[in-house]
Amino acid sequence: MSDLKILSVVGARPQFIKAFPVSAALRREHDEVLVHTGQHYDESLSGVFFDELDIPKPDYNLGVGSGPHAVQTAEMMHRLDAVVADEDPDVVLVYGDTNSTLAAALVASKRDPLLAHVEAGLRSHNWEMPEEVNRVLTDHCSDLLFAPSESAALTLESEGIHDGVYVTGDVQYDAILQVRSTARDRSTVLEDMGLRDGEYVLATVHRAANTDDRSRLEAIVSGLADAGRPVVFPVHPRTENALHEAGLWEQVTTNENILLVDPVGYLDFVRLLDGAERVATDSGGVQKEAFYLDKRCVTLRGETEWVETVDAGWNTLVGADAVAIRTALQTDDPLPEKPSLYGDGTAAARIEDALSSYDDE
Ligand code: UD1
Ligand code: UDP
Repeated sequence: MSDLKILSVVGARPQFIKAFPVSAALRREHDEVLVHTGQHYDESLSGVFFDELDIPKPDYNLGVGSGPHAVQTAEMMHRLDAVVADEDPDVVLVYGDTNSTLAAALVASKRDPLLAHVEAGLRSHNWEMPEEVNRVLTDHCSDLLFAPSESAALTLESEGIHDGVYVTGDVQYDAILQVRSTARDRSTVLEDMGLRDGEYVLATVHRAANTDDRSRLEAIVSGLADAGRPVVFPVHPRTENALHEAGLWEQVTTNENILLVDPVGYLDFVRLLDGAERVATDSGGVQKEAFYLDKRCVTLRGETEWVETVDAGWNTLVGADAVAIRTALQTDDPLPEKPSLYGDGTAAARIEDALSSYDDE
């Protein structure tokens, strides 16, 4: 199919980053309409990415904001349905596993356009995670499924999804390759924070399972405080709220080993990753990015969708156990040779190619 009208839906921080290489590839051949659901709205979680990356400004911002999951998802569907009706796209393109992803998948499924899913076939097998529900349902509604790895494609196969699956590699690998040297040239974040390359741990925490459970959050904070190196911790607003509610804010902000900062833009984050000695995170994207930039990752969860990084010996799952976190943050066991995972940095071009050559007759 040539000259497609593609309506791409984003809403949360990682989706702006994933859209950055894909939108550029799509716009070379097709018309793209970009819709921001408004799930993330703070400047540091949204605006900064549109300002610093070469992503077009959204054609629509649905302004949905925060709320209980069902209400937030329903409100997105309600507002997005009107846009899809007006724009009448050939394809609705969604990313990842957020409520914005699911809302757009359901809207597309109930109207004419094809649904295309970037990051298809990932599973944590943990149904307590809202993201697991979102990604499984989205995959099962999709016409085109862009899997980052062969194992993700095999997962889809095992669930009876045989058609429209393309192994493209990971678009976040494309993104990080495109900005790494710019981040080194332009970002002053290390100097600004008084950090030196190779001498600190970079930490992020935002998963509901960690923020909404005081004992898990406390154990994570305690494990990070014992890293044996300074820990830079750009704090997601959800986590900031949770630290206050749990009465842990003072403990974290007065700890001399933890440098708590506001969330940073992508160029600064990539520079912080590039300079880190290792990474501690419960983020999906950051686990992969650590791997791409040759950093040991300590994952603050009991399972991961990015299993290949664990199998390769570069990622250790420690859950929210303070002793396990401390041990993993302090070990100097040598890392194994690094395999190549999740493609070669051309995922966006492969997605564009698959869309162009897809025959829906
Ligand atoms: C969402 C995604 C998660 C993704 C993450 C990326 C779902 C179910 N979760 O989690 O998969 O990993 O984004 O960061 O879609 N808030 C602000 N400012 C904002 C946005 C949120 O202060 O701009 C606060 C609000 O208190 C809000 C809370 O953060 O209630 C959670 O926001 P929400 O978008 O519901 O989920 P995330 O935890 O960000
Ligand atoms: N990120 C960022 N600034 C930060 C923290 C993360 O730019 O302060 C980027 C990071 O490089 C990655 C993405 O945000 O590309 C990950 O988003 P997040 O951890 O919020 O979501 P997840 O990947 O877990 O869905």
